Amino acid sequence: MKKIVLAISFCLAVVVSLQNCTPEKTLPPVDPNDPDSSYIGTPYSFSTLNPPLFRFPTISDPYKDSLTLEGIELGRRLFYDKRLSSTNLLSCASCHKQEFAFADGGNSKSNSVFGPTKRNAPSIENLLWSNKLFWDGRSSTLAGVAKDAFHGEQNLDVPNAIGYLQSDSNYTRLFRKAFGKPGEITEPKIYLALQQFMMTLISSNSRFDKIQRNEAGFQFTESEARGFVIFQTEAGECFHCHTFGNTFLMTDNIFRNNGLDPVTSTNDFTDKGRGLITGNSNEYGMFKDPSLRNIALTAPYMHDGRFQTLEEVIGFYSDTIKPLSPNIDPLMKKVPHTDGRLNLTDEQKQDLLNLLHTFTDTTFIYNPAFSNPF
Ligand code: HEC
Ligand code: HEC
Repeated sequence: MKKIVLAISFCLAVVVSLQNCTPEKTLPPVDPNDPDSSYIGTPYSFSTLNPPLFRFPTISDPYKDSLTLEGIELGRRLFYDKRLSSTNLLSCASCHKQEFAFADGGNSKSNSVFGPTKRNAPSIENLLWSNKLFWDGRSSTLAGVAKDAFHGEQNLDVPNAIGYLQSDSNYTRLFRKAFGKPGEITEPKIYLALQQFMMTLISSNSRFDKIQRNEAGFQFTESEARGFVIFQTEAGECFHCHTFGNTFLMTDNIFRNNGLDPVTSTNDFTDKGRGLITGNSNEYGMFKDPSLRNIALTAPYMHDGRFQTLEEVIGFYSDTIKPLSPNIDPLMKKVPHTDGRLNLTDEQKQDLLNLLHTFTDTTFIYNPAFSNPF
């Protein structure tokens, strides 16, 4: 009996010391004789993504090497936990729903603890490549977004929340594993764990991606192929802002006015957008070029959710854009569409719509790793 116990503890020591050998800078060193040696997480690597990322930018996020499976799991629980709001009824997932690529499907405005949100809730996908978060880019990190949401939409009382988390053994274990010794739960760790989870929300496996990767059995229909030509030529101009170029993020993360509102002065925009952050009135009414990934799932559209369907969005770009807006982006009025209107035929509109549907990634919205753990 003694021998078996010895053998088991030897194996444990080997396992622990092997983990200790991984080149994981941010994890604390482990002493196998220390009862607290369980304070170590399992490193997560983006290189294990399957299929591997194709034509996505290299990941340069400074936190990319400090993710752990436990940190991600912790972030997932925090994301879905309704107790983390002043009403105990609202979690991140109340407004960012997996089945809608983490947008708030169907709602122009979402319900925060203070009432309707000012803007439409965007999808959460591939944001580890962005340091301009929110429609107006006011946050540069996902941890910063989490803080903004907890103090804003969810009106979280931080000492209360920490008390609740400390009383739950699942949480205390995950906080220890994710952040090491001494293991206490702090406000910044809450945000960093949410950041880890959101960094893993990568959508790269739509039919469009499979077609681009030349996967057997996947190709555009004739209509989708025509739609792709419209998208990436002067016929549609979409590619300039919802960029294809070298990468498939489908956004260039730049702030622009795409001509939604018939204003004669930038002071007339109801939502000043980017300009409110920079203080520059030339940037009033500018918003981030959103990614078009999973766009068929994330209605309604635009920063205020004004369009209910993609047909309406395409109709807007084709026929009803407001070209006289003072700071409208010059790309909206490029030759041959100097009046801003694309004047697409009904067939072209349908082709573009069919293309947009190829951006839907069902593996993303059904991935159990992103689902509600409760
Ligand atoms: C009541 C609804 C609501 C809740 C709850 C909520 N959000 Fe949001 N979220 C929004 C809205 C609305 C926006 C857009 C705000 C803006 O751009 O000004 C947004 C924006 C974001 C963005 C920016 C996406 C981008 O493309 O830049 C991220 C990331 C995000 N939320 C994560 C979270 C996290 C994490 C939580 C929980 C801590 C959370 N949200 C809670 C409604 C909500
Ligand atoms: C000059 C840059 C630019 C061009 C060109 C452009 N867009 Fe946009 N697009 C934007 C901006 C900026 C927004 C967000 C505007 C807002 O909400 O105020 C947007 C929003 C959208 C949305 C809504 C996204 C969401 O999450 O709500 C869709 C869909 C869209 N564009 C599709 C297209 C298509 C299709 C084309 C080509 C016909 C196109 N765009 C051309 C800049 C552009």
